[in-house]
Order: sequence, then C-alpha cells, then structure tokens
Amino acid sequence: MRGVQLLGVLCVGSCLALVGAQFPRACSTVQGILSKVCCPALGSDPNNVCGVLSGRGNCSDVRVDSKPWGGPYRLKNVDDREGWPSKFFNRTCKCFGNFAGPNCAECKFSWTGPNCDQRKAPVVRRNIHTLSPSELNEFLDVLDQAKTTTHPTYVIATQHWLGLLGPNGTEPQFANISIYDYFVWQHYYSVRDTLLGPGRPFKAIDFSHKGPAFITWHRYHLLSLERELQKLTGNENFAVPYWNFATGKNECDICTDSLLGAPDPSDPSRISPKSRFAKWGVICNSLDDYNRLVTLCNGTMEGPLRRGMMGRSNLTLPSMTDVRSCLRLRDFDSPPFFTNSTFSFRNALEGYDMPDGELDSSVANLHNLVHTFLSGTNGLSYAAANDPIFLLLHAFTDAIFDQWMRKFPQNASFPDEMAPIGHNRHYNMVPFFPPVTNEEIYVASSDLGYSYAVELEDEEDEARPVVVLGSALGGVFLGLLLLLFLLVLYIQQRRKRGFEPLIKAEYTPRRYTEGP
Ligand SMILES: *[C@@H]1O[C@H](CO)[C@@H](O)[C@H](O)[C@H]1NC(C)=O
Ligand SMILES: *[C@@H]1O[C@H](CO)[C@@H](O)[C@H](O)[C@H]1NC(C)=O
Ligand SMILES: *[C@@H]1O[C@H](CO)[C@@H](O)[C@H](O)[C@H]1NC(C)=O
Ligand SMILES: *[C@@H]1O[C@H](CO)[C@@H](O)[C@H](O)[C@H]1NC(C)=O
Ligand SMILES: *[C@@H]1O[C@H](CO)[C@@H](O)[C@H](O)[C@H]1NC(C)=O
Ligand SMILES: *[C@@H]1O[C@H](CO)[C@@H](O)[C@H](O)[C@H]1NC(C)=O
Ligand SMILES: *[C@@H]1O[C@H](CO)[C@@H](O)[C@H](O)[C@H]1NC(C)=O
Ligand SMILES: *[C@@H]1O[C@H](CO)[C@@H](O)[C@H](O)[C@H]1NC(C)=O
Repeated sequence: MRGVQLLGVLCVGSCLALVGAQFPRACSTVQGILSKVCCPALGSDPNNVCGVLSGRGNCSDVRVDSKPWGGPYRLKNVDDREGWPSKFFNRTCKCFGNFAGPNCAECKFSWTGPNCDQRKAPVVRRNIHTLSPSELNEFLDVLDQAKTTTHPTYVIATQHWLGLLGPNGTEPQFANISIYDYFVWQHYYSVRDTLLGPGRPFKAIDFSHKGPAFITWHRYHLLSLERELQKLTGNENFAVPYWNFATGKNECDICTDSLLGAPDPSDPSRISPKSRFAKWGVICNSLDDYNRLVTLCNGTMEGPLRRGMMGRSNLTLPSMTDVRSCLRLRDFDSPPFFTNSTFSFRNALEGYDMPDGELDSSVANLHNLVHTFLSGTNGLSYAAANDPIFLLLHAFTDAIFDQWMRKFPQNASFPDEMAPIGHNRHYNMVPFFPPVTNEEIYVASSDLGYSYAVELEDEEDEARPVVVLGSALGGVFLGLLLLLFLLVLYIQQRRKRGFEPLIKAEYTPRRYTEGP
C-alpha cells in the first residue's frame, strides 16, 4: 500500500500532463524519449531521482545482452525490441538492495515494509476450485476492477518506434490503458511481428515463446499482474489461483458461470450473459491490420471474448501423466533452444515436444494443447491474454516449472547465447520496464514471494533420490536393507493414502510453504 501512496504522490507532484509508453508515464515525454533517460524522481523533490537522496537507487546505464543470438530472426537493427530497452532508453533507475520499481519506490518481490527490509511470507497460489466463496469473489471482483481501472504507472506506445513522437516530432504517441489490458498488451507486444514496411511483417520472431524465456517471461508477467491486483484489493496476501488443466477430459471445468464463464447457449463461441466476462471486450486482436498499417495495437476494444467448440471437439486436455512425464526431463532446455529442441523440459512443457521430450509434429501438448483446446481468443498468441483463463492456465504452467526446479535446481542449461532473440540468459525481457533479465527470474519462487499449494508427483518419483543415495553409498548389503525398508514404507504409505486422486493430494502445505 505504501508503494501505491508513494506513486500517487509522485504522479501528483511530477507527472501531470505527461505521457508514457510501455514505459512509465513520467518518462514518455518528448524530452524523455530524446534524452533516452528514464530516471523519475521519488516524491516531490526533483533532485531525488531514483530515490538517490534516501539511498534507494541511482540513475545508471542500461545493461544489454551482447551475446549472439540464434533462431530464425537474423536481421539487425530493424526491430525496436533488439537490445531491449536501449532503442528507447539507455539510462534507468538501478535500485539498490531490496528496492524496486521505475523510481525505486517499491520493494522487490518477497520484501515489504517502509524500508523494504522485512521478509514477506510467500503468498500461496491455490487451485481455483478450493477457494472459499469470498476468496473467489475477491478474485473475480478484482479482475473486473483491473479491467476498468487505468494503470497508475504505465502507458502504452501506439505507434511504431520511428513514429513515436508523431509526425512533427512533438507529440508522443502514447495512450492510457487499464491494468488488465496492459497485461494483454505486454503479451501482444512480445509476440508481434517485426514491422518492415506496409504489409511486410517479419513473422519468425517471438520474445516470449519458442525458447527458454517462455518460462521466465510468463512468470514475470503473472507476478507483475499479481502485484497490481494486490494493490487494488489492498490485500498484500492476495494470490492468483491456478487451474489444474491436467484433467485429461474433453471439457473445461472452470468454464461455468460461477467461475470463468460458461458458453452462451445462443452462440457457444461467446460467453454466457450470466457471466461477468460476457461484458469483457478484447484488444490487440487485429495483428494483420497493424502489420498492414505499420502500427501498434492501441488498446481500443475490438469485440467480445471468444472461446472455441469446447465439449464438441475431439480434443482432450493434458493429463497428470503428461505432467509427470515432463517433470522427468533433467535439462531445462537443449540446443537449438527452439521449438525443435528435444528432451528439453521447457519445450515439453511449452508443448512443441511430446511430454516425454520426443519431437512431435502436432506441436500441441501440455501448455500449447490447452490454448488449442480453448481456441477462440485463447488460440491466438497475440490475443490470448484477453481471456482471464490465461492467467489461471499460466499459473499452473508455472507451478509445473516450480516443481521441476525443486527437483533439478541447477540451471546450467539456460543458455547464455545462441538462443533465439530475447531468450538468452542475460537478455532483458521484452517489454518489461525497468529492465529485468531472464536470469533474475530463474530463481526459486520463494525468492519471488510466492508458492503453490499443489502436489504434482506420485510417491514413486519422490522415492527415487533416496534409492540413488543408497547405491552411491555402495554397500550392497546396506542397499538391500534400505530397499526392504523402502518397500515396507511404500506399502504403508500406499495403504495410508489409498487411491486418493492426485487432485485432492495437493494440500500438503508442509511441503510447499515450509520446505523440508
Ligand atoms: C550508482 O551506484 C553504483 C553503486 O553504488 C555506483 O557504482 C555508481 O557509480 C553510481 N552511479 C552514479 C551515476 O552515481
Ligand atoms: C544514450 O542515448 C543518448 C541519446 O541518443 C546518447 O547521446 C548516448 O550516447 C547514449 N549513451 C549510451 C551509454 O549509450
Ligand atoms: C505539424 O507541422 C506542420 C507543418 O510544420 C503543421 O502544418 C501541422 O499543423 C503540425 N501538426 C501538428 C499536429 O502540430
Ligand atoms: C492518461 O490519463 C491521465 C489522467 O487521467 C491524463 O492526465 C493523461 O493525459 C492521459 N494520458 C494520455 C496519453 O491520454
Ligand atoms: C486504434 O486502432 C484501431 C484499430 O486498429 C483503429 O481503428 C483506430 O483508428 C486507432 N485509434 C487511434 C486513435 O489511433
Ligand atoms: C475423433 O478422432 C478420431 C481419431 O483420432 C476420429 O476417428 C473420429 O472420427 C473423430 N471424431 C470426431 C467427431 O471428429
Ligand atoms: C530447428 O529448426 C530450425 C528452424 O526451422 C532449423 O534451422 C534447425 O536446423 C532445426 N534444428 C534441428 C536440430 O532440427
Ligand atoms: C542460476 O545460476 C546463477 C549463476 O549462473 C546463480 O546465481 C543462480 O543462483 C542460479 N539459480 C538457481 C536457482 O540455481
């Protein structure tokens, strides 16, 4: 809450009549764009840039990844997202210690207090089916509120970089946008094509999919929205719920009017008028038009949310077997760090490979399969985030990654170089601002202030490290004894747990909130 107040004071004090981009309002002035400096003052003293007077941070050169990239985009200097964000700003606030935000007014995820020196207990992301009626209402209400509340800090660019100051170079081309639509716009901006000229898009570029950043990008995207929702609810402990999509069914169990909206009986591609989401419009849905006009999505509504032929299609959602299968892949990613990487945890979870890591020409498994299954707005990467199911889907995808990281905490296979553009370890993720690299988000979720109440693996998987330890000790006799012991333990455990479905086994808070 304190952060909100500080930002409020800042804006009353210094950003009246200012405009911004996917950048803070305060920096999106003619002068800001020309100088390439985005170091807003903290509070009303204009000398307190980045809170430097209270030791919160200072104005520093942006660090940009200089390693070569691989992948299909081999052009140079024709896309404003190259070397992000240096085509726009080359100096930003560098916040010290636990401070964060465009002017260092906020705390890093997982810290709180006026001086950001108190550890914040991780918020717990839970299965949406287990929320109490009041928790569910809080979630749905805050989504509605985010859909209609202007973003307090950020504005979006509505023109291509070369036209960012308007035809006369005096009118910054930015627009206000709601908090939820900002979330949608960021996703669009990260996947949009390179604009080479009218009707000449270069399409083989994607800063948030088809490479290792798929995981870190969506993680940060969700965290940023969660923080905005915490501010809106005034509840520091608010957590986005997840949707366990791994039901193996051919129906969407959250597509009901009490949750994310049932199909409209009179037009099943629309959302039932009994659901609040029937009123939600979509933005950024006309990629071909933007390409033709060499412009950007400007945030205007372009029609209602759509979902596909659920229930009537032949597709079935992924299963828990698929989830467990990808959790056995030890390498985070593998060359060429793209959609044809094999035995890559990332590529299996993203869904271009089969869950066990083998190549698959259908490229529709796990995460991809869920988007395909929902189809409609969800089936188009530039528009998908318009559907609030997007955040529940990505919370669960992130929960799977979180579990994987617990098992294989080494991160050697997150590539330093030769990943597609945007996907190298030290690349600043597009279009987040202030800059944040993939590596900074490739950390335990507890370091980012959240955890999941979920159980994704069966006991067979959990027993494996113990067996490995046993054989490493070498003693055949010891090993045998241990095996016998394990067998007894296993039988006992099995008896205790019975055949409790995995979906119910997720509330073992000990494991996920306290650690071993
Ligand atoms: C910002 O702070 C860092 C760390 O204290 C220091 O090395 C750097 O010189 C400072 N930069 C400026 C422009 O003051
Ligand atoms: C940052 O951009 C400004 C304006 O284009 C330029 O004059 C300056 O040399 C750049 N600084 C760095 C460190 O690239
Ligand atoms: C831009 O400049 C032209 C010529 O200098 C002028 O006629 C026009 O009114 C200006 N447009 C705006 C929006 O200021
Ligand atoms: C955004 O809204 C604020 C306050 O409502 C206003 O002052 C500002 O001019 C608007 N910015 C743009 C780019 O429309
Ligand atoms: C915003 O974009 C829409 C759709 O691309 C377009 O019709 C409209 O003219 C744009 N509005 C502005 C103010 O540029
Ligand atoms: C469903 O898929 C199977 C094969 O995968 C096919 O034989 C069957 O005709 C399909 N059914 C429908 C209704 O499309
Ligand atoms: C992966 O796909 C890219 C782009 O289609 C291609 O250039 C590359 O040779 C493929 N690599 C492998 C190992 O299949
Ligand atoms: C990942 O590697 C970096 C150094 O390369 C290290 O600082 C970081 O802690 C590692 N993260 C995890 C989760 O192991």
